[in-house]
Amino acid sequence: MKGIIFIQFTKKVNEVWGEDMVEDLIEQADLDSEGVYTSVGTYCFREMVSLINVLSKISGTSPADLQKTFGEYLFKQLSMKYPLFLEGKKDLFSFLASLENTIHVEVKKLYPEAELPSFEYVFPAENIMEMTYRSQRPFADLAEGLLRGAVAHFGEKIELSRQDFPVEKGSKALFRLTK
Ligand code: HEM
Repeated sequence: MKGIIFIQFTKKVNEVWGEDMVEDLIEQADLDSEGVYTSVGTYCFREMVSLINVLSKISGTSPADLQKTFGEYLFKQLSMKYPLFLEGKKDLFSFLASLENTIHVEVKKLYPEAELPSFEYVFPAENIMEMTYRSQRPFADLAEGLLRGAVAHFGEKIELSRQDFPVEKGSKALFRLTK
């Protein structure tokens, strides 16, 4: 997982709980990197899982809720850092449809070591979009948070539902967005 994600995560923890919490997390999460992240560096995604689990124990918020809240925040940060990906996208559906074949493809060009999930799209009706998230890593809740962040960005009235599927490794979830 790219350092930019860890840096945004510690920034958010710092904003909500303060610097001491960031230090406590890094100390208790037993990280190979020792919590020293650079935005272009690459770190094992398990460090993110550990950080979230420790934060969950200390804060009493479930890891799923922490991933979701962080995902919403992360979307805001990514959209400011990479405004080009939002340019010319007239609505939420056309933006999300560009995620698999454009945005994450460009991310992979910028950072060849990035580990990205995959998405499959189905449009059962004009006002409904289904996205199936599949990853070798356990970040379906983060995906939901990012999606909620995107919904907020476009300001459309959307109903989001989700169905999780059991998989041997990583995670798989179907998100259904209804206008
Ligand atoms: C401006 C838009 C976006 C940009 C620039 C972007 C970029 C990135 C980057 C840099 C990573 C880290 C890859 C790594 O650490 O190796 C990532 C991961 C991820 N992205 Fe995006 N992303 C965007 C939008 C979204 C949206 C809207 C979703 C909604 C589902 C999403 C879902 C994810 C997930 C869940 C991961 C974590 C990796 C995994 O699940 O295996 N991204 N993205």
